[in-house]
Formats: sequence, C-alpha cells, structure tokens
Amino acid sequence: MITLDKYPIGEYHYAKNEASGSLDGPWGTFYWADVLDGMSGIVERYEGKIQLIYLDPPFMTGCIYRYRQKIGEKGYLEHIAYSDRWVEGKKHYLDFMTEVFEHVYSLLNPEGSFFLHVDYRTCAYLRIILDKIFGEKNFLNEIIWHYQSGGRAKRHFSRKHDNILFYRKSPKHYFNMEALGKERGTKKRNNMKMQVDDNGRVSWTIKSGGRIYRYYEDSKIYPSDVWTDISHLHQRDPERIGYDTQKPEALLERIILSSSRPGDVVADFFAGSGTTLSVATMLSRKWIGMDSSPHAMNVCRKRLLGLGARNDFAIYYKGKSRPIGKSELIVEKQVDQYPDDGENSKRIHTIRIVDYKPASDTRIHVLENVDQDIKGMEYIDYWAVGHIKGDLFYPIKCVWRMDGQSVINDTITLNGSMNKDLVVHLVDILGDQHFYKFI
Ligand SMILES: C[S@@+](CC[C@H](N)C(=O)[O-])C[C@H]1O[C@@H](n2cnc3c(N)ncnc32)[C@H](O)[C@@H]1O
Repeated sequence: MITLDKYPIGEYHYAKNEASGSLDGPWGTFYWADVLDGMSGIVERYEGKIQLIYLDPPFMTGCIYRYRQKIGEKGYLEHIAYSDRWVEGKKHYLDFMTEVFEHVYSLLNPEGSFFLHVDYRTCAYLRIILDKIFGEKNFLNEIIWHYQSGGRAKRHFSRKHDNILFYRKSPKHYFNMEALGKERGTKKRNNMKMQVDDNGRVSWTIKSGGRIYRYYEDSKIYPSDVWTDISHLHQRDPERIGYDTQKPEALLERIILSSSRPGDVVADFFAGSGTTLSVATMLSRKWIGMDSSPHAMNVCRKRLLGLGARNDFAIYYKGKSRPIGKSELIVEKQVDQYPDDGENSKRIHTIRIVDYKPASDTRIHVLENVDQDIKGMEYIDYWAVGHIKGDLFYPIKCVWRMDGQSVINDTITLNGSMNKDLVVHLVDILGDQHFYKFI
C-alpha cells in the first residue's frame, strides 16, 4: 500500500438510517481545528442558527492535561492531550476568550443559550466580558456545580465546585424546566410527617412560620442554581475514557434538556472527549464539535461510532492531517465471486492487515504495564476501508479498539462490485492518522 499524495479534507460516516440528517448534511459535524480559526470558518454557514452552545475551555490552570489510552488488558499509553499554560499571561487568555465569545454570540439564534463552564480562577473576569457582549440583562444564572473529590486544603477552604455561567441570546430564549423534573421519591424526610390520603397518595408535611407545607411523593422537584446531585467522574467510573477533564454525561444532559429541543443544533467548540456530542446524539439533538487536539478527534470518533446507527457524522481536518515521517502498512486483498458464474454472482472483498509500522516514535509517549515490544496490529486503534469522493473519505466499514482489547480485527470484508478505488484510513495508538491506496 502507498500513502495518498493528497489527503482528504475529512471523513463522512453515513448512519444509513431514517433519522440521519443525510439530506441536509450530516447529523453532527466535528472540526479538528484551532477554535478561532475553526469558528471564523463556520460563522457564515451557522450564523444565528445554533440553539445551544456549551463551552468547557481551558481554565488557565497552568497544567498539562493527558489522555491515558488503555492498551491491552492492563496497559496505558499516556499522551499529552492539551496544555493549559498561558505563558503570555492572563490578558492573552482573556483576549482569546473574548474572541471566542464574540463568535458564540453571532452563532446563537435569538432563542439560543450559552453555558460557559469555568472555575474560581477566571469566572469573575469572564463574567464581565460576557456581560458586555450579551448585555447584563441576558445573564441568567451562575450555576454552582459542587462535587466531592479527594484532597483537602490546609490553608484555605477546599475548592469543590465549578462555575457555569448561563446567558441567553435574547429574552425570547427557550427554557424547559419541565424536562428537568424528578419525582421526589419515597425517601424518608427528617422532621416531616408522612400522611397517606384515601387514594393512597403519600405526602409529607412540615410546619414553618405558622404555615403547613405539603409535598406529594409523586410531585416533581426541579434543580436550583446549585447542583450537588451530579457526581464528578471518579477514577473507576465506567463513563471514564481516560481523557483528563472529561465531564459527566448527567451534567450535559441537564444543560441540553433545559435549553434545546430534539432536532436543534447544540455546539461545543472545546469538545475534548466528546461528552456534549455524545449526549446531544442520545437526546436527538444535532451537534457541532471542535477541538484542536488530535487525541480529542480520535476519542470523539470512537465514542460517536460506539453510539451505533443513531449517528451520522462528518469530521473535517483543519488541523494537521499528515503526520511527520512515514508509516508502513502491508495489506492483503482478495476478491472472491460467489457463485462464480451466473448473473447474480456476488463479490466479496477481503482486506487483511499483515503488518504496520508507525511513523512516530513510541519513546516520546509514556507506556505503563505494556510490553515495550509493540508490533503490527497492536499499534492500530481504528481502521476503515472506503472511498474518496470529492475531498471526503467515506468509510464503508470500520473497526476500532475498545477498552481492554489488545488488538482489533485485522480483517474487513465488503460485499458488492466496488468499482471505485478502495482506500484504507488508519489511526494508530500514537494518535497519527494515515490514508493509503492499493498499488
Ligand atoms: C476542558 S477540556 C474539554 C473537556 C470536555 N468537556 C469533555 O467532557 O471531555 C478543553 C478542551 O479544549 C481543547 N482546546 C484547548 N485549546 C484549544 C484551542 N485553541 N482550539 C480548540 N480546542 C482547544 C483541548 O484540546 C481540550 O480537549
């Protein structure tokens, strides 16, 4: 196989189901791009069209964040996912965020809302910038997301919350509190008296200030602006993908349900591991994602494919798509015809990876509990066989690594005549992607 001279500008995964958005473009679109470059590139197309934007940007922590990719049963390969160091200082960070917010404002539709997820470091500064862009009257809440995590401070109170600033684009904004209601449930309430009426309906009463307050167990409770009921992702949480700073799906579910309807467009321009995109898909919202990290792109691709036939999405490469150095892929292709005569004969193409050598050097990555002598298929995290049409790669079938798998299937079979040239798209565990054609 030889690498393609001209790389496609992206890939298009067709879901082939009725709910997919194929008629007017994909259901979801991910841009592998720096946010300012990527957002200015989409303003023309999406101006005033996005219903909900959630951003979880770098917090100015001064830290480097990692993606700990599971390899084999117990191993890890540690990558740098992104840096949150702002060597040029706070002004540089705030100027960058101001530019992002200006794009956010023009992308939102008049019914739209914006949720900015930050913490104590920058919340006050960003609030002032956002008040200017959105107008003070359009600031709706500062949500406190309080969580329990390890570690206790000794010289001040422990910092156990994030701040989520909630703005509307205009007073016409859509907000659905009903969608967030949860039944009070049967939990015993201290200091309250339980009563059961003639119909068997259970209520709890409490006397306060000379008045009696009554709550029915089957009535709903709604979240306030302090969220204590959503746990952050602990070390062994099954949701955890290994991408530092990944947020829980329950958090995004609450935000998406509150401020969008099925079919609306939800966007996240610092997508990371793809929590927003994944929850948007599960709640039948269209989505736009963006991230400059190749690891974020690779993690999002697999996470979205894992959702199965519900999804239909494109990934555009505005980042670097060609890795430095040369990789080597050896593939065996066989075409069989069944039955080999007659009009209805069917062709089966079997494509098998025989060997692969990555372009990058594994020594720049930290390996834990992994046999250093990785070879062949063990390097491959995702691969697909498909066609290039126009500037896009259309995978026909793809295979990807799940947690705990040391190797993925080395064979893909395709049925049909396959008139066009078949192309292989491969992403290795180092995060590099390559496109190859048959010689
Ligand atoms: C806090 S993480 C987002 C985590 C995400 N909410 C999740 O649940 O996984 C911030 C993301 O912003 C991305 N990022 C940082 N600077 C960026 C830039 N200039 N352009 C695009 N993405 C950027 C990082 O790669 C990282 O994935």
